[in-house]
Amino acid sequence: MVFTDLRLPVVGAPMFLVSGPDLVVAQGQAGILGTFPALNARSTEAFGDWCDEIAGRLPPGAPWGVNLIAAPTNTRLEADLAVCVDRKVPVVITSLRAPRDISEAVRGYGGIHLHDVTTVQHAEKALDQGASGLVLVAAGAGGHAGRLSPFAFAAEVRRFFAGPLLLGGGIGTGAGVLAAQAAGVDAAYVGTRFIPATESLAPERHRAMILEAGADDIVNTPLFSGVAANYLRASVVEAGLDPKTLPAGARLDPDTPRPEGLRAWIDILSAGQGVASSAKVETAAEIVDTLETEYRAALTRIMPEGAA
Ligand SMILES: Cc1cc2nc3c(=O)[nH]c(=O)nc-3n(C[C@H](O)[C@H](O)[C@H](O)COP(=O)(O)O)c2cc1C
Repeated sequence: MVFTDLRLPVVGAPMFLVSGPDLVVAQGQAGILGTFPALNARSTEAFGDWCDEIAGRLPPGAPWGVNLIAAPTNTRLEADLAVCVDRKVPVVITSLRAPRDISEAVRGYGGIHLHDVTTVQHAEKALDQGASGLVLVAAGAGGHAGRLSPFAFAAEVRRFFAGPLLLGGGIGTGAGVLAAQAAGVDAAYVGTRFIPATESLAPERHRAMILEAGADDIVNTPLFSGVAANYLRASVVEAGLDPKTLPAGARLDPDTPRPEGLRAWIDILSAGQGVASSAKVETAAEIVDTLETEYRAALTRIMPEGAA
């Protein structure tokens, strides 16, 4: 399986307005699997160019992946999927809906189709729809986080699914990567740790807030996108809002008005609870080196005799 060939069992998670070709290539060159959302490219044509660029810059056979938002609001879905099929993108990760036609198209050319889920019910549904594997997005994740404990979530899904499983949510250290493996999944799904990477597309303001923040600075609210997501407190305060008074819950009550002129992911910036793992701007290669050192140290700590 593709994850066992990686230097470390880590997939760089796709992040809107953060991951593009430079980050994906740097992650791949560092020995992990990088991914990006197709919508980060400004058109389907540009998305195709990004795929060609990544495939051309990575060593032959190095895996990489693309995230497709499978929602009716994504008018590019069909065309972007056609690009994935044409370029034989090795890993396609869908979010929101898990349509059977995407699974069939990706599996048809030998690709791996993973669907990301936040509940056990959605995990079962995605497998019914033909997904090759799942990304379990647990509590504490950047973006639209789940509410489940990673330990409970991974254990329950492993009871009925033996195939490829990734686990994300607050994993920012090599010890966290090892913990994900111990919890029964094949690889950790790591987003926030790579936001301040030199190669990321994140604006300076986003990087600076990440470097200053800790877990207590992450606020969870459905206010800005309609669905619960994790945001950096500093960006909420900068927008003139009081983080303590934001609505809670999985979905925004339809009667609650969304604040005008404040865009999720642009004005209000996202990060996961593992944000304290980043202390400086570094290259993706340096981040992966640190993750590996921490991973080996954690292994030695829990299995002192001949672990590493
Ligand atoms: C800034 C940001 C943007 C994100 N954009 C997307 C996206 O476009 N599509 C998606 O499936 N997930 C997106 N996510 C979620 C990540 O893919 C992943 O689930 C999450 O980052 C894992 O948790 P972590 O950030 O705590 O490592 C985003 C996360 C962040 C922090």
